[in-house]
Amino acid sequence: MTGEALRSEDLRKVYTTRGAPPVEALAGVSMEVRRGERVALLGRNGAGKTTFLRIASTLLRPTSGSIEVFGFDAARTPERVRPYIAIVPQEGKPFFHLTPREQVYTYLRARGLSREVAKSRTEEALEAMGLTEFADRLAITLSGGQRQRTMVATVIATEAPLLFLDEPTIGMDPFARRSVWESFRKLTTRGSTILLTTHYLDEAEALSHRLYIIENGRVLRSGTADDLKRSVGGTLKVAVDGGERLAETFRSFGSVMDDAGRLTVIIQPERLPEIMNVATQAHVTATVGPVTLEEAFLRVVGRSINED
Ligand SMILES: Nc1ncnc2c1ncn2[C@@H]1O[C@H](COP(=O)(O)OP(=O)(O)OP(=O)(O)O)[C@@H](O)[C@H]1O
Ligand SMILES: [Mg+2]
Repeated sequence: MTGEALRSEDLRKVYTTRGAPPVEALAGVSMEVRRGERVALLGRNGAGKTTFLRIASTLLRPTSGSIEVFGFDAARTPERVRPYIAIVPQEGKPFFHLTPREQVYTYLRARGLSREVAKSRTEEALEAMGLTEFADRLAITLSGGQRQRTMVATVIATEAPLLFLDEPTIGMDPFARRSVWESFRKLTTRGSTILLTTHYLDEAEALSHRLYIIENGRVLRSGTADDLKRSVGGTLKVAVDGGERLAETFRSFGSVMDDAGRLTVIIQPERLPEIMNVATQAHVTATVGPVTLEEAFLRVVGRSINED
């Protein structure tokens, strides 16, 4: 096991279905994930996130380009890659006729772990996902969120060197989502690497060291959440009520959006005292807040992450 946890170069995927036009799902994606990192792929529906994860986890072959996991070619030598990875697929479901305890334990045994290790990891993962109370009920009787927690428990229990999670917290309540974040953080401090997708930008920001914004099968931006905000003009926004007449002045501070007379200016933090001064002198009310990842995404992609 050598090299980065994951590295792709100019990865392309064209889906061809008989009787339908081909779909270019990945149009040349290059990315790298270092060991111990938590990286999130962000993008709207159909951006290509699942396609990327399926190729990286050896479930699908790319049309061209290269992808390596710990230095092994995931397309040509998938059998070398598989022992190092585990995946929660998008809309994966636990086996209906197993209980969460059986599901996690059986999966670990199938991966070759000893009875003792499998048993203690199973208990730890069930506990971490708040499943102890439901651990002996058939999955078919569990709620959607409880099933999803079972899927995540199964994969975190592997403690695999590289974990792929495609929308791991979908359908979970805020409390359960936080337990997932906690478990992911713990895994990476123990040396695992995590690549996930999510449509929750607060989650991406709270959880990941770096992000990739994907749109139409291409990487539009990458970096930390703060890098992305800086790339759209800054990490702070100042909302100014009744500041229309000062629009020109405010434009010199950063990009300005005019929402029915309420101006929002995105600025770098250094310029805050200056802009507040201008507002005070002009007797207009200015409110300062952080730029959210949601706003940065909107400006980079041109559309909101949840917009169809
Ligand atoms: N098996 C397939 N055959 C043909 N086209 C496909 C197939 N799977 C995905 N696609 C298309 O490839 C593109 C990328 O899909 P993908 O599932 O990778 O997107 P995604 O970013 O995961 O979206 P979502 O946020 O909705 O999960 C879409 O246009 C999709 O319709
Ligand atoms: Mg998807």
